[in-house]
Amino acid sequence: MQFFLDTGMIDEIKQALDWGILDGVTTNPSLIAKTGRPFMEVVKEILKLVDGPVSVETVANDAKGMVEQGKRLAELGDNVVVKIPMTPEGIKAVQELESEGIPTNVTLVFSPVQALIAGKAGASFVSPFVGRLDDVSNDGMKIVRDIVQIFNNYEIDTQIIVASVRHPMHVLEAALIGADICTMPFDVMKKLFHHPLTDRGIELFLKDWEKVPQRPF
Ligand code: E4P
Repeated sequence: MQFFLDTGMIDEIKQALDWGILDGVTTNPSLIAKTGRPFMEVVKEILKLVDGPVSVETVANDAKGMVEQGKRLAELGDNVVVKIPMTPEGIKAVQELESEGIPTNVTLVFSPVQALIAGKAGASFVSPFVGRLDDVSNDGMKIVRDIVQIFNNYEIDTQIIVASVRHPMHVLEAALIGADICTMPFDVMKKLFHHPLTDRGIELFLKDWEKVPQRPF
């Protein structure tokens, strides 16, 4: 499973790249707003750092506007993925952009059938929002399971990005289900490394190492 960071923060992206576990980045207008920086400045900086797919969201309501914005974004780099909301106009835009070789990511997906529509439209990626579903007492991961089954049934090759991730259990479940990608906030990625028994084990080994005679280093 690929790991994407869901962020607009450059320092977070640099840290994940340094760990060597970053496959791509997803952004949205809220994440860009959090940086307090101009939109294009942030996007260009992310694209300079990251080789893998970088999703950047359009903000128009109609297909024409989404396509226009999508084309402008795609000019910024070969790895730009145009994020399009799951609406009838969005699905029209997806078909047009994909027909011109511009990859799209259908976002704000909250049901398996919405994902099926995105797949039928030929979207490169689809983003089910698991955390926001959990927030309203739904089972977010269930729709990921359903989407995997539907895509297998019909050999749809749209990649599934598990999004709106809140904690490491979401990442574990995404991997067990076989989702292609999990996009997560930086604090969740950091938590994936840790286990209290790992910390305790290192402490004990280092303590015992002190007792070993003639240590080479
Ligand atoms: C990613 O593509 C989404 O924009 C993001 O995961 C949404 O997450 P949130 O529900 O934490 O805002």
